[in-house]
Amino acid sequence: MTETHRLLIAIASIGLYMLWVAVLFFKHKKQPSNAVTGEETLVVYASQTGTAEKVARAKAAALSEQEQTLVVSMASLKLNTLSAVSKVIFVVSTYGEGEPPDAGRTFSKALKKASSNQSDYLSHLSFEVVGLGDKQYAAFCQFAVTLFDNISALGARALSPLMTLDAGKGEHLALLDSLPEDAQHPTHAFTLKTRVQLNEVTLASGEPLDEFDNQVENQSFNSASPGLFGLSLSVDNTNHTQELHEQWEAGDVLEVLIPQQAESSIISRSYTIASVPQEHDIKLVVRQLVKDNGQFGIGSGLLTHTLPLSQSLQGYIRKNSSAIITDTQCPLLLIAAGSGIAGVRAQLAKRALLENAGPVWIFFGERHPSHDNVLDKTLSPFQHGDCIFQKSVIFSRQEGGGYVQQRLIEQQDEVKSFLGDTGQVYVCGQFEGMGQGVDTALQSILKEQAYNALADEGRYHRDLY
Ligand SMILES: Cc1cc2nc3c(=O)[nH]c(=O)nc-3n(C[C@H](O)[C@H](O)[C@H](O)COP(=O)(O)OP(=O)(O)OC[C@H]3O[C@@H](n4cnc5c(N)ncnc54)[C@H](O)[C@@H]3O)c2cc1C
Ligand SMILES: Cc1cc2nc3c(=O)[nH]c(=O)nc-3n(C[C@H](O)[C@H](O)[C@H](O)COP(=O)(O)O)c2cc1C
Repeated sequence: MTETHRLLIAIASIGLYMLWVAVLFFKHKKQPSNAVTGEETLVVYASQTGTAEKVARAKAAALSEQEQTLVVSMASLKLNTLSAVSKVIFVVSTYGEGEPPDAGRTFSKALKKASSNQSDYLSHLSFEVVGLGDKQYAAFCQFAVTLFDNISALGARALSPLMTLDAGKGEHLALLDSLPEDAQHPTHAFTLKTRVQLNEVTLASGEPLDEFDNQVENQSFNSASPGLFGLSLSVDNTNHTQELHEQWEAGDVLEVLIPQQAESSIISRSYTIASVPQEHDIKLVVRQLVKDNGQFGIGSGLLTHTLPLSQSLQGYIRKNSSAIITDTQCPLLLIAAGSGIAGVRAQLAKRALLENAGPVWIFFGERHPSHDNVLDKTLSPFQHGDCIFQKSVIFSRQEGGGYVQQRLIEQQDEVKSFLGDTGQVYVCGQFEGMGQGVDTALQSILKEQAYNALADEGRYHRDLY
């Protein structure tokens, strides 16, 4: 073969390759991002902990007699999909401080940008927005409000005024009635087997009190340092027990149902489950909330103080899809403080059961090295197993100490290379302070592109409260 032949073959190959790339590009561009036909009502949910998703599914079930519906997460919704449908119902919660749930971040940014041009891009579209929020937060249902305004600004026609529901008061529950029976949560009885104080309590005199395993039921003093309790609950045997074990996975939440005598109603409190089904028992880590008047918080008081050993409570396991990490091979960065250790324990327990699971690095914040040994106590079952993990602990009340976000920054180069392009991040605990601080630290460590990729590719799991 001559040089000219070789050159011609090379030019032809490059030409064919470019043609193939162009075909792929245009094919991809023309395809709508969701499998919409244009005939159906789109029911879009943006949910952090699953409530809005349930309400969206219930709405779709209620509508399905009269019209075709398609339920999609906002995470997979592109703005141009809305140009292909004529009716959309949004069911969205609000997270952070008036922000969208993580699944709504990208769409909400794109919508905000488009709506700032005040065009009539969506004038063919009619819509409804149902907002779920909690009036304990200042920015009640703020994401629903912003969504309603931005969709309206693009010319879409509202079928009804914005509906906002205080989920903290159970205002959304009536909407769930149309869910098929099997999509409702069967409740179970859970029996308290053990309760252990994980941190050392400081008496008013400043003297530490020795740990008192399983005797905390008799606790009658008001502690200066808020107690953190590890609980083990057995699932009482019912027809649904096996089903429950099959459905529950690391990241899920126990909804504890608490009857209110005065109002003859039931309220619920969420607790991240610290164990996996293979351990049989539901483990929790609960911070005891003592209010200024000395009263315990309703849920935390029941779990850490009032409920006697061997007694049962009612509850159900709630899927917490944003906290479920399916890829078990990738590097996993687990970040928590305080009761957030619950979620860290569950994620570690999941990996400990697997052969060849990816590496784990835990960042944990505690108060004082001599009072708090929560991390080691909680993770002791995994210390000598096959699941290798690295730990970085920081104490806030130690000279030169600080918060977990500071430790992340101190080790930023290692954190960045540990995560690489595929690493997953799971953060569990208080949103205020810890969750916000960790988010700021991650933005600074990863910089815009890698931080956005982490969030948009579903590798950033926030189980914050
Ligand atoms: C998805 C999720 C997972 C969670 N996981 C866990 C977990 O694993 N462990 C855990 O401990 N918690 C967890 N929580 C928090 C938990 O659900 C409860 O919110 C927490 O236990 C407090 O509820 P409570 O009923 O004890 O307090 P409540 O009786 O509801 O009291 C809280 C109220 O007290 C007020 N308050 C707070 N501090 C004080 C104070 N010092 N003085 C006076 N008033 C005060 C607050 O404004 C608030 O209105 C989780 C929450 C969510 C949403
Ligand atoms: C960390 C956190 C922040 C929240 N911030 C707000 C808020 O700013 N405004 C609001 O109305 N509700 C807020 N909520 C309440 C949720 O919107 C409400 O519990 C909702 O039912 C959750 O629905 P989801 O499970 O679909 O995410 C917040 C809840 C959490 C856990």
